[in-house]
Amino acid sequence: MKKILVTGGCGYIGSHTLVDLIQNGYNVISVDNNSRSNPDILNGVEKITGVKIKNYCVDLCVFDDTHAVFQENPDIIGIIHFAAYKAVGESVENPLLYFDNNINSLINILRCCAVFSIPYFVFSSSCTVYGNPDLSPVTEETPIKQAESPYGYTKQMGENIVQQTINSNHIQAILLRYFNPVGAHPSIEIGEIPLGKPANLIPAITQTAIGKLPKMQVFGNDYPTKDGSCVRDFIHVSDIAHAHTLALNFLMAEKNKTNCEVFNLGTGNGYTVLEVIKTFEKCNKVRLNYETTKRRQGDVIEIYANNEKAKRELGWIPKYNLEDMMLTAWQWELKMKREQSLGDQQDAQLN
Ligand code: WQD
Repeated sequence: MKKILVTGGCGYIGSHTLVDLIQNGYNVISVDNNSRSNPDILNGVEKITGVKIKNYCVDLCVFDDTHAVFQENPDIIGIIHFAAYKAVGESVENPLLYFDNNINSLINILRCCAVFSIPYFVFSSSCTVYGNPDLSPVTEETPIKQAESPYGYTKQMGENIVQQTINSNHIQAILLRYFNPVGAHPSIEIGEIPLGKPANLIPAITQTAIGKLPKMQVFGNDYPTKDGSCVRDFIHVSDIAHAHTLALNFLMAEKNKTNCEVFNLGTGNGYTVLEVIKTFEKCNKVRLNYETTKRRQGDVIEIYANNEKAKRELGWIPKYNLEDMMLTAWQWELKMKREQSLGDQQDAQLN
């Protein structure tokens, strides 16, 4: 089977992509130093697929350790590079941490691609590269504007580094620009495990609804949108995952017209923050305790995707709607609470 190295395989999108790759006939390994992820998530991947995943707990910023993984796996034919820090707020507080981690890890991976002549490379990018677009939906040709955060800037730099190094290394690459990945695998065996207080909307909603947080804030209701709150394109994480499998299939079938293709991964539907909250409450039959506060620095007013290119060229059709995203996100939060309670009971019995 074709072996794919997935960096950040213990992360939210990485773990869901491992599942999709396996279910589509790929052999996979993960490289993840678990600095921002929990390797236990691979147990969930195994429950879904029946396949035990090998994870190399390696810091990709250390070239020799990264090189050793490739040396041990000479049959790798493709890379999907997820591993990066992605908290917008943290990147504003500590930009050098983000430049150091996100860029040096990418450089080392690309160096190994060259040394080991790996032909296929998929880069995890983000709609954040568009900055604050003048108009939505955005297409892949929408002009790139000033990034709104150091995190977003590392994605812009990452795209440029990939585009400018692949020619000399005969690599065929794809850049996937995710809009807002949310939800959990339908099996509810894997999902998002935010570290600390959640910065993103959906974990903030589910943690408030389950009582982990007393109240959540809606950051601004005075934007020029239908109800004053920001507009985003929420996309189910399993749809995002499947796009990675289709991207590799696309490259291996040599369907790419250039050696670095870009695709937007969004549903093409924009929903306001308040619409998402109302949908969450309605389909999960829960009431959410929230208040409206001032705007959050760096938020763009409205962004959602034109996803026609991914549909046309990758054959990618998002399967899940907003209700599915809200249902699976809530069921995953409930499962994490059940498992936490079980763990607490076992600890109590042991002590
Ligand atoms: C969405 C909307 C907030 C939390 C970022 C990155 C993007 C991707 C996803 C990595 C905004 C509002 C949020 C809360 C709120 N990252 N909000 N209360 O900022 O669109 O995108 O995360 O994959 O690359 O840029 O996502 O979920 O943080 O915010 O009102 O407690 O929800 O103001 O309008 P964002 P988000």
